[in-house]
Amino acid sequence: MTLKEIAERARKDVKVPIAERDVERAISALLASEDIWRVLDLSGTPVMALVRVLSTLRELGLLSWDGGRLVLTPAGRELADNLGIGPRRELKCPHCGGRGTTLGPVERIAGKFREIAADRPEAIQDYDQGYVTEETTLHRVAFMWSRGDLYGKDLIVLGDDDLVSIACALTRAPRKVVVLEIDRRLVEFIGDVAEKEGLPIEVKQHDLREPLPPELKARFDTFFCDPTESLRGFKVFAERGIAALKGPGSAGYLGLTHCEASYAKWREIQRFLLEAGAVIAELRDAFHDYVNWPYIDHMRSWPHLPVHRLPGREEIWYRSALIRIEVVEGPTIEERRYEGDIFADEEAATT
Ligand SMILES: [Fe+2]
Repeated sequence: MTLKEIAERARKDVKVPIAERDVERAISALLASEDIWRVLDLSGTPVMALVRVLSTLRELGLLSWDGGRLVLTPAGRELADNLGIGPRRELKCPHCGGRGTTLGPVERIAGKFREIAADRPEAIQDYDQGYVTEETTLHRVAFMWSRGDLYGKDLIVLGDDDLVSIACALTRAPRKVVVLEIDRRLVEFIGDVAEKEGLPIEVKQHDLREPLPPELKARFDTFFCDPTESLRGFKVFAERGIAALKGPGSAGYLGLTHCEASYAKWREIQRFLLEAGAVIAELRDAFHDYVNWPYIDHMRSWPHLPVHRLPGREEIWYRSALIRIEVVEGPTIEERRYEGDIFADEEAATT
C-alpha cells in the first residue's frame, strides 16, 4: 500500500482536495497522539480531508477507533514503518509558544484587557465567530507594534470578535482605531468600552459584503482581520482591508488555518495577495489559538468526526497562522459587492 493509493481511495466521491502529503501528515499525527483533537491539530490537514483519510485508513484495517481513541493497528504501524513515517514532533519554543514575540510594552495592559474581555459577548454561529485566547490577542498587538504598524498609526479592524481594537487602543500606541463589525452585540460592547475607558475607537455596524464606506477608502496605515475561510469569504475580508490602506508601505494582517484551508487554497490566496500589489512579508504558523466555541457540536464537520468527544473550552486544537502583508505597489483591488453566503465551501469545517 502506498500513500498514493490511500489518497486516491480517500478522494473518491468527494470534492475536497486530499494530497498524498496529507495522508503522510495524518499517519504522522496518529503516531504522536490517539486523541481526535490533538490529531486534528498535529496533522495540519483540513478537517474535511482528514476525516476522509481516517475513514479510509479504517476501511483498510490500518486504524481503529472503537474505544473512542484513534489507534493505529499493527498493520497501520507496519505501514508507517515501511513508508519511513515517524511521529509528528511539535517542538514549540517554550518561552513564546512559537510566536517569536514577547509582550514587552503590551504587558502592562494585559490585566485590564483580560478584565474587559471577561464580559465579552459569546461567539455565535450566525457570523462564523470563534475568538482567540486573550493571550493571543495581546501577542498580536505586540507583533504589530514590533513591526512598526501600531505606534502613531491609523488602524482599521474588519470584524472584531477578538477585541483587537480594544487591546490596541488600551496601549495608547495607535493614533486612531476604526472597527467595522456586523454583530450588533459587539458594536455595542466595543462602543461602551471605548466610551468608559476613553479610547480612540470608532465602531460602525457594517456588512463586509458591501464595499467600504467611501470615507474609509485609502485612509489607513494598517488593517487587521481574521477572515472566514471559504476562498470567497477570505477575499471579501482581504479586499476590504487592502482597499482601506493608503498605499505602498501600508500593512495588513490576516489569519489563515490549516483546518479549513488546503495548500491549494493557500496558493490561491497568496496569488490573490500578490496580484493586489502586496508582498507576504511574514507568515507565523499557529500564532493564533482559539477558544472552543459553544456551537462545536453543531459545526459542519462534527457529524463526520470519528469520535464525538466535546473538547474543553481551552483545549486548543483550532489554530491559525498570522500573515503580515505589506503593499509594494498600488494596491489594485476590484471592489465588488457580494451576495449570499460567504462562509461555505467544500473545506469549511467549523461554520
Ligand atoms: Fe521563543
